[in-house]
Amino acid sequence: SELKDPQADKDRVQKAPWLIVSGICTHLGCVPLGHDGPYDGWKCPCHGSIYDTSGRIRSGPAPLNLAVPEYKFLTDTRVKIG
Ligand code: FES
Repeated sequence: SELKDPQADKDRVQKAPWLIVSGICTHLGCVPLGHDGPYDGWKCPCHGSIYDTSGRIRSGPAPLNLAVPEYKFLTDTRVKIG
């Protein structure tokens, strides 16, 4: 509830351990760098938005979590995105 864009980690994942998110910062569209920042999630080099390992916005100017696109697991190892 303290998150800027509250969403449970489990609601962002269909099949653990796979997390599928769009790699586009929700501030102005830069590409955040993975395994970076205090949560070892993503850090946007443009204006410093910090996302956690679930792609949820934790600080900085980005208003929303990294988007979870429409996707579907076709098999255990194949996924269709979009
Ligand atoms: Fe990512 Fe501004 S575009 S913080």
